[in-house]
Amino acid sequence: MRVLVAYASAAGSTAGVAERITGVLQARGHDVALRSVDDVEGAEHYDAFVLGSAVHNQAWLPSASDFLAKQRLVLHGKPVWLFSVGSPGALRGPFRRWAMLEENDILARLLDIVTPVEHRLFTGVVTNTTFGRLGALVFRALGGRFGDFRDWDAIEKWGASIADALADQKS
Ligand SMILES: Cc1cc2nc3c(=O)[nH]c(=O)nc-3n(C[C@H](O)[C@H](O)[C@H](O)COP(=O)(O)O)c2cc1C
Repeated sequence: MRVLVAYASAAGSTAGVAERITGVLQARGHDVALRSVDDVEGAEHYDAFVLGSAVHNQAWLPSASDFLAKQRLVLHGKPVWLFSVGSPGALRGPFRRWAMLEENDILARLLDIVTPVEHRLFTGVVTNTTFGRLGALVFRALGGRFGDFRDWDAIEKWGASIADALADQKS
């Protein structure tokens, strides 16, 4: 079974998540290719997909949603896991819970194109330049913090659950 992990990343943190998931799948014996969505050739040669994008304005980056739309027939009937990398985890308390609700909007757009096994919203890296000067002020006023919020434990656990599901499909 050949697995494609493909991602779209503007500032690099989604690429890091995709790399880590790839590492987990490989460590468990799967045949995995890691590509930016812009560099995927021959998507039809893969049997399973883990696809992710950074979130901008509560949606996947255009390169990632274009990839999904273009490959919708290839993806149809194959196992597809989706992940998004945004910023809710950089907020606290009620603001974090409110920000997490964006997952519904992100996913609703993706479900028009593909039916995934599962979708996960992770938090990536937020710096004082991510949202611009005014955005940074608003973000701080909401209790937001700057930093690398990638929860490697949760990311690796999710990767391991994908590896298990793929192993079940092989047997
Ligand atoms: C222009 C812009 C818009 C963003 N909009 C959102 C958003 O709507 N929701 C969210 O959770 N994060 C948003 N973010 C934060 C990014 O998703 C977050 O920083 C993520 O780690 C970026 O991934 P990347 O490093 O792979 O580009 C935005 C960032 C930028 C630069």
